[in-house]
Amino acid sequence: MVFASRLQIRLLLPLFPILAAMGQKAAGADQEVGSKTCNGCHPEIYRNYSATSMSQSSGKVGKGAFRESFYRARFSDPALGAQYSVSLTAEGYRLEFSRDSAGVRGERVLGWFIGSGRVGRSYVSSLEGFLFQAPVSYYTLSEKWGVSPGFEQHSSLYFTRAVSAKCLQCHASRLQPVAGAENRFSAPPFLEGGVSCERCHGPGKNHVDKITAGDRKGLSEIVNPAKLEPARRDSVCAQCHLTGAARVARARAARAAYRPGELLSEYTAYFVWTDAGPSAMSANSHFEKLQQSACKKASGDRLWCGSCHDPHSEPEAATRAEFYRARCRKCHEPSACKESLGTRRKAQDDCSACHMPKDQVRETEHAVFTDHSIPRRPRRSAGSPGTGRSLAPFWNTPVEERDLGLAFAMVAGEDSSFRRRAFELLQKAEARDPEDLPVLIQLAQLLDETGREDQAMALSERIVRLDPSQAAVAVNLGTYYIKRGRVQEAMRLWQDALSRNPGLTGARINLAVAQHRAGDAAAAEATLRKALQYDPDQETARKLLAEIRAGSR
Ligand code: HEC
Ligand code: HEC
Ligand code: HEC
Ligand code: HEC
Ligand code: HEC
Ligand code: HEC
Ligand code: HEC
Repeated sequence: MVFASRLQIRLLLPLFPILAAMGQKAAGADQEVGSKTCNGCHPEIYRNYSATSMSQSSGKVGKGAFRESFYRARFSDPALGAQYSVSLTAEGYRLEFSRDSAGVRGERVLGWFIGSGRVGRSYVSSLEGFLFQAPVSYYTLSEKWGVSPGFEQHSSLYFTRAVSAKCLQCHASRLQPVAGAENRFSAPPFLEGGVSCERCHGPGKNHVDKITAGDRKGLSEIVNPAKLEPARRDSVCAQCHLTGAARVARARAARAAYRPGELLSEYTAYFVWTDAGPSAMSANSHFEKLQQSACKKASGDRLWCGSCHDPHSEPEAATRAEFYRARCRKCHEPSACKESLGTRRKAQDDCSACHMPKDQVRETEHAVFTDHSIPRRPRRSAGSPGTGRSLAPFWNTPVEERDLGLAFAMVAGEDSSFRRRAFELLQKAEARDPEDLPVLIQLAQLLDETGREDQAMALSERIVRLDPSQAAVAVNLGTYYIKRGRVQEAMRLWQDALSRNPGLTGARINLAVAQHRAGDAAAAEATLRKALQYDPDQETARKLLAEIRAGSR
């Protein structure tokens, strides 16, 4: 009998360390008119911008300028013993997969892509309105298909990585998440592919309405980032280009989402590692790197992303060197660089080739390729993380202990001293605000990890009462209940969690076990079949299903 001790579900950690409210629509989302409307009066900007990778960063497969090659679209993953093949169909790209040793085969339609294809593309498939990331991606440099980044460590075919609004929000615009669910969207999941005009300029309805009516006041109804004070200006790009070691959603983010013109730091607290040693070099976002540059340190607010980048267009390869050199020349006299005054005319032109060298490793999703720390001489290596490091806020804004506590909890991993720091800070935060959900959720997890299950259970009950949509917490609470014989309550929690994200296979298997124990083999069988629909290579589900079928014979 396999049914004995199969109830070891841990809290499912979020994919990205952001604790934002689920399904949060941007404030004023109903005031957004879409980029096509802007085209009516700003056709040149629209045309230029449409050619950029930002504007093409997501969409329906088969649409847009970039096209994948299907020449090498059949490949295997030897570590897993899996075969994949991608082909074109009318409804999207068809992914066929199989793993012979497990007797698994099937297919999925890849409906949407994420990533312009400058480096590569990931894909999203929809099952009953719920979105999941596909285990295959396209790699542009090598023009071939392969296993998606981050999917290599799995010991079975992996189809249940939820695509939530958190994942889509940097790549797509005017999202249509269904409230209360983790990864459910209306069709289509977003009304505009890529980064729309309004992601940088704010909702445009009033601007358009007033100007159409001949009212000049309409000009002040739209945000021009360049006219904002520096912190608000930088916030516009930082919403998508600042990563940090940890990103913590602040209380305000539960009520509304950031919009251009505001201070991003009021919505999200960003933390970076403090040590200025080698690990600072491994920082992974354009913002952090630029902050380390001598240019930024010496010129302060005068230097920003817009000093070198035209937000509406990317320079063509032939004029690239000249384009960026002109940017450097805004601050540097040609005589500033003795090296470039040498005889090598070609090298002389390209300031960034020497001072902003490129990383050779390009086959990952979110790496910085061009060194934005603008070094005198190319640096050797990224180095390994220093010891005794700590977290500090990225912007020079005051941070609350609560935010720091959450950040420590996010980066803690197995580090017990970080966990202790987190626990102390979060306990204080809970005392101040007993309804602060992100704080309660992290506390419950820390309590569970340190074996204080009764306390973790009590806290989880409070969380689910405050917000029933916290699926991961509900799943855990169910396991606490079942251990204490509260079967009906556990089953209800799991069912509810599964209605918010049907890819939570662990909860589904637990549910099937509980149904079987309660004597309902037919329900258990249906539950397991559903589990395999979403997660076709789930071994436990397969075994249990075989057992139930054998038993009913
Ligand atoms: C009915 C015509 C019209 C439409 C539609 C329109 N604009 Fe404008 N917009 C103008 C005019 C006119 C100006 C002032 C002259 C100029 O800068 O071109 C302007 C100026 C701007 C400015 C500069 C404001 C400043 O303070 O510097 C921005 C930014 C802008 N528009 C963005 C947008 C965006 C984004 C959209 C789509 C959501 C949009 N516009 C749609 C007519 C329009
Ligand atoms: C916080 C914002 C953010 C989130 C969230 C995010 N991305 Fe990205 N992504 C970026 C930025 C910015 C780039 C390009 C620059 C870079 O590499 O830093 C990028 C690049 C990519 C690329 C390479 C595209 C190309 O060809 O240039 C892929 C593929 C990608 N992301 C997939 C994903 C997927 C899948 C998710 C969700 C699981 C995701 N991203 C979530 C910001 C984000
Ligand atoms: C990635 C962010 C971003 C996106 C997306 C974006 N803009 Fe802009 N836009 C800016 C910034 C930054 C400026 C200020 C540029 C400057 O003056 O340095 C600007 C300036 C403008 C201006 C006024 C100044 C000018 O250059 O004429 C207009 C009009 C405008 N944008 C329209 C649009 C339209 C229309 C779209 C979509 C087709 C769009 N923008 C998309 C960031 C963006
Ligand atoms: C809503 C999210 C978002 C905002 C806001 C945003 N970006 Fe981006 N940006 C992205 C994503 C995603 C990519 C990667 C696009 C891809 O290749 O799929 C990207 C790519 C880029 C690139 C690389 C283009 C290339 O050469 O291939 C530059 C440069 C850039 N962004 C600059 C900016 C600047 C400057 C701002 C602020 C004015 C800004 N971005 C605001 C999401 C954003
Ligand atoms: C907004 C102004 C500004 C821009 C734009 C700018 N810099 Fe600088 N940069 C500075 C200042 C100020 C310093 C410090 C004083 C100095 O060395 O000239 C500096 C320093 C440097 C240094 C010395 C670094 C060190 O560690 O000593 C290099 C190299 C450099 N810049 C290269 C560039 C290159 C290449 C570009 C274009 C891709 C560029 N800068 C764009 C303002 C700028
Ligand atoms: C001093 C000039 C300079 C500044 C300031 C600057 N960049 Fe860049 N950036 C570059 C150059 C040069 C490249 C390489 C472009 C190329 O090779 O086509 C680049 C490339 C990029 C890319 C493409 C991916 C990569 O790493 O090659 C992104 C995304 C990007 N920058 C974002 C930003 C953001 C966000 C900011 C503000 C925090 C910023 N940049 C500030 C000069 C600059
Ligand atoms: C062939 C490679 C190369 C090119 C091209 C190049 N540089 Fe340099 N640059 C260097 C090196 C190497 C140094 C360091 C010299 C030293 O340490 O004495 C340097 C130093 C500098 C410094 C610091 C000067 C000082 O004495 O503090 C600045 C600023 C600078 N470069 C700007 C630029 C600008 C702007 C351009 C484009 C017009 C450019 N460089 C093109 C290699 C280059």
